[in-house]
Amino acid sequence: MNEKAILKVNGQEFELPIIVGTENETAIDISKLRAMSGYITLDNGYLNTGACTSAITFLDGENGILRYRGIPIEQLAEKSTFTEVAYLLIYGKLPNESELKEWNSAITKHTLIHEDLKRLYVGFPKDGHPMAIMSCMIASLSTYYQDSYDPTNPEHREISIIRLLAKFPTIAAFAFKKSIGQPSIHPINALNYCQNFLNMMFAVPTEEYEIDPIAEEALDLLLILHADHEQNCSASTVRLVGSSLANIYAAISSGICALWGPRHGGANQEVLEMLNEIHDSGLTVKQVIEKSKQKFSNFRLSGFGHRVYKNYDPRAKIIKKATYKVLNKLGVKDHLLDIAIELEEAALTDDFFVERKLYPNVDFYSGIIYRALGIPVNMFTVMFGMGRLPGWIAQWKEMIESPDMKIGRPRQVYVGPKEISYDDAKKGG
Ligand code: SDX
Repeated sequence: MNEKAILKVNGQEFELPIIVGTENETAIDISKLRAMSGYITLDNGYLNTGACTSAITFLDGENGILRYRGIPIEQLAEKSTFTEVAYLLIYGKLPNESELKEWNSAITKHTLIHEDLKRLYVGFPKDGHPMAIMSCMIASLSTYYQDSYDPTNPEHREISIIRLLAKFPTIAAFAFKKSIGQPSIHPINALNYCQNFLNMMFAVPTEEYEIDPIAEEALDLLLILHADHEQNCSASTVRLVGSSLANIYAAISSGICALWGPRHGGANQEVLEMLNEIHDSGLTVKQVIEKSKQKFSNFRLSGFGHRVYKNYDPRAKIIKKATYKVLNKLGVKDHLLDIAIELEEAALTDDFFVERKLYPNVDFYSGIIYRALGIPVNMFTVMFGMGRLPGWIAQWKEMIESPDMKIGRPRQVYVGPKEISYDDAKKGG
């Protein structure tokens, strides 16, 4: 398409190129706008602003479509594994058998963390939020690899990617063990990614721990569903920090902090706390819905709504179905699931939600499965981060390897005071 956009302003006309994506998304390229016209654009929250082109993940918010490297999420959820999806996102293709074997074995070989690094856990209070621990530990990993974290060096990129994927579960499980005063359980090379994590989380040195295949399968599915989501808040944070050529550990650590927020990945913890509050306080579902509509209250119906999906989040559909299956197989009856179902039904028939196209998102049901697996509520967002890690890495790598990468530095429109001298300002009080 050679069509151009014409901007008419101040009696002048400016031609702007139009970019068309693989799925016919269209964008006006404003990269030369200021030089041509002196104007910049303003877009609070970037609702209308694309930060980059990307070949990793495609979302169609109107139709509830999600694809990783073109493959529908429903098919990956059914047929793939988390480490295979991680390879797909990061390298742009499904690994063949030997590539997948080599990938899994490279990750397995790097699951231990330096013994000195473990000493950092001593400084954290036992009730410290694990997202703070994760961001601190991931950034601190870089202090052990200063000879191999140059983002412009391909070999450094490869080994750093393996180290991050390998050590994230170990660091997460150690944080959990620290919080309950139990000894950390080391990774076992004979176990796969999800088995290892479950073992490090729930085994104790005093007896054999049997990994439940149902829990392993449920965890693998949840990690796949969280693996990437194009330019969400935390992925954009990873890109922005990475664009300064800070090392990948610093970029991922910043993504963890962004994910922590209750408007983003922290919502899965908020959902469980909201469901528990409804159960314990006797608040009715209707009352909660009404409360979430009050403009002044900062209360939102957690797990509902989405910047892109104006339809049911395809991940929420899959997780909701899996919740029933996992709880049945585990023989778990969870009263919070009944409340969640009631809440969803009430919201989906409420005009406020219908008009604003607010549907359940990935966070609405995921916590019920984590809970059934024995994972504590304050670790839910860590689980989101474990799933999202390959997506953050893929987004970072795509940016770093792009020939026209620039440091991210948005403009602003200044609305502060006109020039004033120090003495006048002092007088102004
Ligand atoms: C994730 O971006 C991604 O891809 C994120 C994610 C990923 O995989 O990376 O999908 C993961 O973060 C999912 C979202 C998890 N967050 C929550 O569940 C928190 C609750 N949801 C909201 O806070 C909200 O829906 C957001 C943050 C998710 C989206 O916010 P937007 O797009 O900025 O929309 P908005 O805040 O401008 O809301 C539009 C309207 C407002 O009402 P009006 O001003 O029109 O009167 O809808 C209302 C909002 O008040 N609204 C809600 C609501 N979400 C939006 N009202 C009540 N409850 C809600 N959950």
